[in-house]
Amino acid sequence: MKNILITGAFGLVGTDLTIELKRRFPDAHIVSMAHAISTDNGTIQEKGDVTDRAHLKEILEKHEISEMYHLAGLLSVGGEKDPPRAWNVNVEGLRNVLDLAVQRNMKVFWPSSIAAFGSTTPKKDTPQHTILEPTTIYGVTKVTGELLCQYYFLRYGLDVRSLRYPGLIAYKAPPGDGTTEYSVHIFYGALKENRYTCFLKEDSRLPMMYIDDAVKGTIDLMEAQSSNLTVRTSYNFSAINFTPSELVIEIQKQIPSFTCTYEPDHRQKIADSWPQSIDDSCARNEWGWQHEYDLQRLVVVMLENLKKKLQL
Ligand code: SER
Repeated sequence: MKNILITGAFGLVGTDLTIELKRRFPDAHIVSMAHAISTDNGTIQEKGDVTDRAHLKEILEKHEISEMYHLAGLLSVGGEKDPPRAWNVNVEGLRNVLDLAVQRNMKVFWPSSIAAFGSTTPKKDTPQHTILEPTTIYGVTKVTGELLCQYYFLRYGLDVRSLRYPGLIAYKAPPGDGTTEYSVHIFYGALKENRYTCFLKEDSRLPMMYIDDAVKGTIDLMEAQSSNLTVRTSYNFSAINFTPSELVIEIQKQIPSFTCTYEPDHRQKIADSWPQSIDDSCARNEWGWQHEYDLQRLVVVMLENLKKKLQL
């Protein structure tokens, strides 16, 4: 019997991941944990904060949790607004999870990000093992978290698994406070106002992925045979990459009158420090990772579904 806890359950990843976990494991006991419970997602719900170790322990014991998807965390832009909080939630929160996981012999998933890379990292086809000198607090927490995960695996034999998520694009949950999130906001702009002002330059190329691919990869990694996995920091994980102007052209194929203007702000510096494309051959070779969505399909699906959601 799988007893799964998802933290950050109502975020961009958590919302879709919960639905897919319910579909793939209909008999599982799934518990959602978050600061604020926003909707009835058909799981057991617990209000909680990952920085409160005692409360987290209680929740794990109460539901006899055997597996955890620890998604709660601040993103790149949110992190810069309050670096101490980013450290506390992203690193201390993860440490709480890892320590309790060792005690309970739990399997853990935790997301890293392309933000673990920095401006000294090769920008194209960024290799799995490369320079990690991030310049955002978010990136610093991701590199720290990756090394902690690997340490707990080596020192305590904890089965912890991780992916370096690229920019993720989804419609069910509202976008978070990140840099790649322009690629979600733009769809709201296109449908509601027929225009969008982009906070990145038109030629800022970044690695991106549709949420269904991200969720599939996440569960597949958790279900992969442990002995096949050689990476216990975090796997490079990639699908497509595009610039804002390439995304605009694709949206205009569906909505020809859509216009986008560019007003790059402080977030440009963050985008400039990240890679443009990622070499994820390790993930593809070791546990069969494959993406399905290209840019064209992603745009069609986002517009169709967001339109329904916004009742337009
Ligand atoms: N979407 C994230 C951000 O931009 C990247 O991990 O902060």
